[in-house]
Amino acid sequence: MNELFDLYQEIILDHNRRPRNFRPLEDHTCSADGYNPICGDSIKVFVKLEGENIEDISFQGEGCAISKASASLMTVDLKGKTLAEAQEEFKSFLAMLSEDEDFEVDFLEFGDLASLSGVRRFPARIKCATLAWHALEAALQGNEQTTTE
Ligand code: FES
Repeated sequence: MNELFDLYQEIILDHNRRPRNFRPLEDHTCSADGYNPICGDSIKVFVKLEGENIEDISFQGEGCAISKASASLMTVDLKGKTLAEAQEEFKSFLAMLSEDEDFEVDFLEFGDLASLSGVRRFPARIKCATLAWHALEAALQGNEQTTTE
């Protein structure tokens, strides 16, 4: 269990230090700012859609290690997926974060996103982990900003 915890920590630290897809997307088709009023952090998500497919996705902004790692992992996970698949991923991710602490997260189902499952123990940090996801949802709905409340 400790080895798994260490691995999860390492994944989060790596994505915080070297966030993937951390850049503006000049030819994006939609974007939105996600704002966490509790801490004042915000993350902007850019999406380039090609029909129903997420051809490219990126983010920018300021946030804690959890929010930045989550945004980075989200972009890696969703690039190339369909909108329907992205919606399912978001639903599953939210469900994972609301599970009981003892619930065993399936690494095969969540991949590296499972590294954020430890956030369940710290309810205030759930807003950090979902910040970029809410921004993505807003962008896909045609809204330019959203908050985690
Ligand atoms: Fe601000 Fe985590 S403390 S997003």
